[in-house]
Amino acid sequence: MSSTRKTDPTIDVKVEALLKQMTLDEKIGQMTQVRHFDDIRLEDVKSKFIGSVIHTQGPLPGSDALEWQAKFAAFQQEALSTRLGIPLLFGVDAVHGQNTFEGATIFPHNIGLGAAGNAGLVEKAAAITAIEAKATGFQWVFSPCVAIPFNEKWGRVYEAFSESTELTAELTRASVKGHQGSDGKMGVMATAKHFIGDGATDFGVEGGHTSLSKEEVLELLIPPYQAAIEEGVAAIMASFNTLDQISMHAHKAMLTDLLKERLAFDGILVSDWKAYSRFGENDIILAGIDMVMAVDGDLEMFQEGVKKGVKSGDIPLGRIDDAVRRILRQKFRFGLFDQPYPDKELIKMIGIPEHRSVARQTVRESLVLLKNEKQVLPLKKDQKIVVVGEFADNAGLQSGGWTVNWQGTSENYTGATTLLEGIKKFAKKEVYYDPDGSADFPDVDLALIVVGETPYAEFFGDIGGEMDLFQHTLTETHQNYLRSYAEKGIQTVVVLISGRPLLVTDQIKQCDAFVVAWLPGSEGDGLAEVLFGEYDFKGKLPHSWPKSIAAYTGKFGPNFWDPSADPLYPFGYGLTYAT
Ligand code: BGC
Repeated sequence: MSSTRKTDPTIDVKVEALLKQMTLDEKIGQMTQVRHFDDIRLEDVKSKFIGSVIHTQGPLPGSDALEWQAKFAAFQQEALSTRLGIPLLFGVDAVHGQNTFEGATIFPHNIGLGAAGNAGLVEKAAAITAIEAKATGFQWVFSPCVAIPFNEKWGRVYEAFSESTELTAELTRASVKGHQGSDGKMGVMATAKHFIGDGATDFGVEGGHTSLSKEEVLELLIPPYQAAIEEGVAAIMASFNTLDQISMHAHKAMLTDLLKERLAFDGILVSDWKAYSRFGENDIILAGIDMVMAVDGDLEMFQEGVKKGVKSGDIPLGRIDDAVRRILRQKFRFGLFDQPYPDKELIKMIGIPEHRSVARQTVRESLVLLKNEKQVLPLKKDQKIVVVGEFADNAGLQSGGWTVNWQGTSENYTGATTLLEGIKKFAKKEVYYDPDGSADFPDVDLALIVVGETPYAEFFGDIGGEMDLFQHTLTETHQNYLRSYAEKGIQTVVVLISGRPLLVTDQIKQCDAFVVAWLPGSEGDGLAEVLFGEYDFKGKLPHSWPKSIAAYTGKFGPNFWDPSADPLYPFGYGLTYAT
């Protein structure tokens, strides 16, 4: 953020002038975030003085960007027609591109950015996300996730950059800078999330308990937040987990004493989903939450509950004023009062070749080469190649959760290129495709076998968790793709599409080359460019790679700071053609 935006003294004057005129209802309204359609009707914006609208999984605001803009403009008009005319803030879960809008540029998930380790590229990707988010009507993204995953059982490992605090802090800074821009006109508000301990729960349970000591939290988890705050991050989201046996949403010592006072965070502390009814009602306000996702039936309860709390003296008015001040401050900083409506001119920027080319570079730089025997890679253009597996020709499967839908999709989607399409662009001979490992093409020189995890988000992805849908190893079916080609004596290259390191020790032995592609997003041809040797491999493991299930018997997985960990590959490992 430019220093002028952060230090502009006129903003505080405007905030105070507005605050002075506000009734309690208007203040509580500003602290309210709701889902469009589900939680409110258009007219409720006015009667409930709503401060912010969120779009995530749920009814689409329209069928194209112009309709999205029009829908949000209609809500905005309601807000602007209130007595004080305070504009609404529109927020979205754009965590790897504006992934809620089909046709937007979809970047690799953060784990891939961690592998690329290129801060300049993270900044560019975030700036593009900001443009495409604005083009679809938003001024706020709930990104980046700056968690430090301690255990790969956690279903959100891919949303985080790395197990390294240092790398995470560096990329967090770049991400916030890219999202927020420097003049407040092009940028969107970024959100560092989830504060704190989301990825460090015991046994990797989403929303579980973290037993880290205060010293460990300060040393390992806080630095990315410090970087975000130094960069002027507009918002921080509280986490679902508990720490010191206290729900993070109600943890005053961490939220107010540490984050707001010691670390001098001056932005909006936003709650996570439905936090009011889940984590102690007014306790979360007392602990320091400024804006509440009052969704899925929480709206009435939240607004009434806070009002009662203030009237009875349980919630000091000063706490409410602090929350509203923070919200108004960001609305001024990000130009909402001057430009409350979305800019139609931006629509033509969604998914343009220039944006996709940055995403493709990100894909290329994120790939990690773990094995390459007999120089089976790079692929030769005149080889007869069979591409194996349903993941090879499916943009949804290659993109992971938070793509088009909350839990992702297993369909192709607008504007994306699949890995197979990319391979076909380079090969000189016909490329065979064997989607389920059952074909028997003659004279094949090499099998490119694409395996991985189907998309998941949040607790759905926990291994051995509440849903129990995922495992540390490849599925039997995917193991068989490799086994059957290897047994035929055909050279094999494995590409792994996954949101975390998996136990693939046997498969690495069995194949000739092994590439980790993480969750590359919409630009599948970035992978082909590297496999054919147009570019070298650059990616380095952002996590220690597990050798056996023994790595997961304790609370945490193999992490490089754990001297007892015995990884198959260490953090930072990655081969290149040159070496
Ligand atoms: C997730 C957040 C997300 C929010 C809004 C929550 O369930 O934990 O990361 O931003 O939903 O969709």
